[in-house]
Amino acid sequence: MTSSRTNSEHAGAADVHESVSAAWELLLPAAAAPARGRGRALQSALREAVRSGRLVPGTRLPSSRALAADLGVSRGLITEAYEQLTAESYLRSGRGAGTWVSGSVRAAADGARDLAPRGPGTLVDFRPGTPDLSLFPRSAWAATHRSVINRLPHSALGYPDPRGLPELRVALAALLTRRRGVVADPERLLVCSGVAQATTLLGFVLHGRGQRTVGVEDPGSPEHAALFASAGLDTERLPLDDEGLEIASLEASGVRAVVTTQAHQFPTGIAYSAARRSRLLDWARENDAVIMEDDYDGDFRYDRAPVGALQGLDPEHVAYTGSVSKSLAPGLRLGWLLAPASMTDELVDRKRTMDLGNPSLDQAVLADFVVRGDYDRQLRRCQRAYRERRDAMTTALSTYFPGTAVSGIAAGLHIIARLPERYGPEAEFLARAEGAGIALRPLSDCGTVAPADWSIALVLGYAHLAPAEIGRGLRLLAKAQDGF
Ligand SMILES: Cc1ncc(COP(=O)(O)O)c(C=O)c1O
Repeated sequence: MTSSRTNSEHAGAADVHESVSAAWELLLPAAAAPARGRGRALQSALREAVRSGRLVPGTRLPSSRALAADLGVSRGLITEAYEQLTAESYLRSGRGAGTWVSGSVRAAADGARDLAPRGPGTLVDFRPGTPDLSLFPRSAWAATHRSVINRLPHSALGYPDPRGLPELRVALAALLTRRRGVVADPERLLVCSGVAQATTLLGFVLHGRGQRTVGVEDPGSPEHAALFASAGLDTERLPLDDEGLEIASLEASGVRAVVTTQAHQFPTGIAYSAARRSRLLDWARENDAVIMEDDYDGDFRYDRAPVGALQGLDPEHVAYTGSVSKSLAPGLRLGWLLAPASMTDELVDRKRTMDLGNPSLDQAVLADFVVRGDYDRQLRRCQRAYRERRDAMTTALSTYFPGTAVSGIAAGLHIIARLPERYGPEAEFLARAEGAGIALRPLSDCGTVAPADWSIALVLGYAHLAPAEIGRGLRLLAKAQDGF
């Protein structure tokens, strides 16, 4: 450190000498960075020094000339670093008064907590609801993103139509008509943040119309009740039988809105019978009611013909919703809602006041992805992988938990496994699983129905696990239940 040079510029200022020394040490590694990234490296190092409190508020920094000379870098790099960090409010400067660390900078907290539902800490997580995120088509998505950003006019970055980009609504309407048999008018299709937001939007509109209770399937997804509650609505659990929702219970409830996962009931995995679908639609017509069809995993079918959407049979009484959460990734937060004509304006208005529309770039990428056939390609790829995993799951269950009955295996991303009585009681079984690092979701989490003849019924997700992981997880689970 050439303190003589520093002192000649700031004669008699001992604190300046100190700060030169401190800054010099902190910035030395950045100064040695390759020439191309040296400027940014210096800025990062200086920023980090202020954030971490190593350069305390009020510290005067050496002149750009002195620091540049000490570090052996061009003065321009130091000037630029000072200007950038002054613009970011980490530093302050006054004409002729030099540069010092801003007094308003507080030491940053160590980090932000991650409250994502699936944290680390489990060895094997069998809870359902997630596709295999490692199958996300990163290269195709990145290529599409690049091509979209090169092509989009500036105007496309303005506030979008709250319903979604026209090109995406057209692409999705064609896709859903083709794959799911819906009646899809792009004018009545809303792009939204997953089934979750579609549910909330619908909840607000129903609430605005004076409704206070929505019927939900029992067993069913616990999310439905939570989402409707956020819109001020109660939910009434309605029992299922082998064919679907019990119509007598639905009629007796007096509700005028009900949720169904009829193509692949969550969590039981049954498909509603044709007769029950027809009764459900009759109920809606007779009561001027609305059915929310949650087609959460409608694309994955293994050994049975696809069950078409209910909406295709009566688009005026069915609000149809789905998303890319199971086909691509839930983190994209992209979904759709096909609104009945009588509700479209209110739903669009709600969407507008809620968030002014989904991010345009993501929508444009998905539109291209669908139009180029990449979406169908991805589904084909996942379908093959998931069928293999489903088979691995049923085989491993029969190996490690003989006597287990499985159901709901023809479609979707999870199965129901009913374990023989000897494994019970459930609470103890689950505690032993947790102790062994195996995350499970019991069927009892999804409703009030008690498994009649079985001690334990589990909703086992398999799509996100490689076949070897499935085998390992069930082996560890069996070991944890030692003595059976
Ligand atoms: C039955 C069901 N519906 C809806 C959702 C929420 O989906 P989205 O990510 O589209 O909001 C889930 C999530 O797992 C689900 O299981």
